[in-house]
Amino acid sequence: MKSFAKIGLVAAAALALSGAAQAQAYPDRPITMIVPFAAGGPTDIIARIVGDHMSKTLGKQVVIENVAGAGGTTGITRALTATPDGYTIAMGHLGTFSAAPATYPNLKYDPLNGMQPIGLAGGTPILVVARKTLEQADLKSFVAAVKANPDKFNEAHAGLGSVSWTTCTLLKGQLGVPKLNAVAYRGTGPALNDLVSGQVDFMCDQIVSVAEQIKAGTIRAYAIASAERSPALPDVPTTKEAGLPEYQIEAWNGIAAPKGTPKEAVDKLVDALNKALNDEGTKKRLLDLGAVIPTVEERTPAGFAAVIKRDADKLSPILAAAPR
Ligand code: MLT
Repeated sequence: MKSFAKIGLVAAAALALSGAAQAQAYPDRPITMIVPFAAGGPTDIIARIVGDHMSKTLGKQVVIENVAGAGGTTGITRALTATPDGYTIAMGHLGTFSAAPATYPNLKYDPLNGMQPIGLAGGTPILVVARKTLEQADLKSFVAAVKANPDKFNEAHAGLGSVSWTTCTLLKGQLGVPKLNAVAYRGTGPALNDLVSGQVDFMCDQIVSVAEQIKAGTIRAYAIASAERSPALPDVPTTKEAGLPEYQIEAWNGIAAPKGTPKEAVDKLVDALNKALNDEGTKKRLLDLGAVIPTVEERTPAGFAAVIKRDADKLSPILAAAPR
């Protein structure tokens, strides 16, 4: 074989090896997963459970970094404007990816076209929960009391555009009491502490962070805003059973990376997410807290992008009319 052909073959082999080497190289150091709310809330809980198993598959630690503020948009902005090298990702959710565009006119990221979706990490049904000392014993009497004296009730949420704010905005709109006294927190983890201690009256929160408190009897669960009861909380009625059938909404948490993240990094992150959601131990941890395991389709970038768009289309008309 002529020498220049040999040179071509060697060069091609070197190129392939370097590409393969680079692919094999990712990840060669820990990966930061930004959680855009305070520790202890539902997004943090999902991130730590799923991230724990992803670390095993990736061979490098997925390190959770809590960056709270502005309903989660501060942390998501930080993540999605980071260098697109696969070493900074985010755990966002229905609020930061589907509600935020209708809530923040000058949002610094575009969840539909300006980020790299990885996949859905966990569905999180929504519960209307209250301090256990609130005199209204059930959803019907709570709704009647809020309609009669809206100024008497203090709502807790995690900032404009958060899941707690978005899902309670839907509830308040349906009750015809769009404006209530509200206390904003850096996450529903801290909000839950104040609900347990009776500092605030009620909240619309994701099941994974309130399930244990409900089982322990430290807060009251009026209803779950799903079509069916949760296997994790079989005694909590659906909103339909509790007399408010129109209030049905489910949240979710999912992983995204900056747009332009290399394909081999995206593929490895998608693979690690799927392996986590196929792992029996990880699934049990999620299911015990009432999470819903995403379908195979929802765990893909395209399937996750479709969920984000579906819920953005559903929420934007509601949120556009909502008082801030
Ligand atoms: C949290 O993790 O604190 C919640 O996801 C905040 C929210 O969106 O309600």
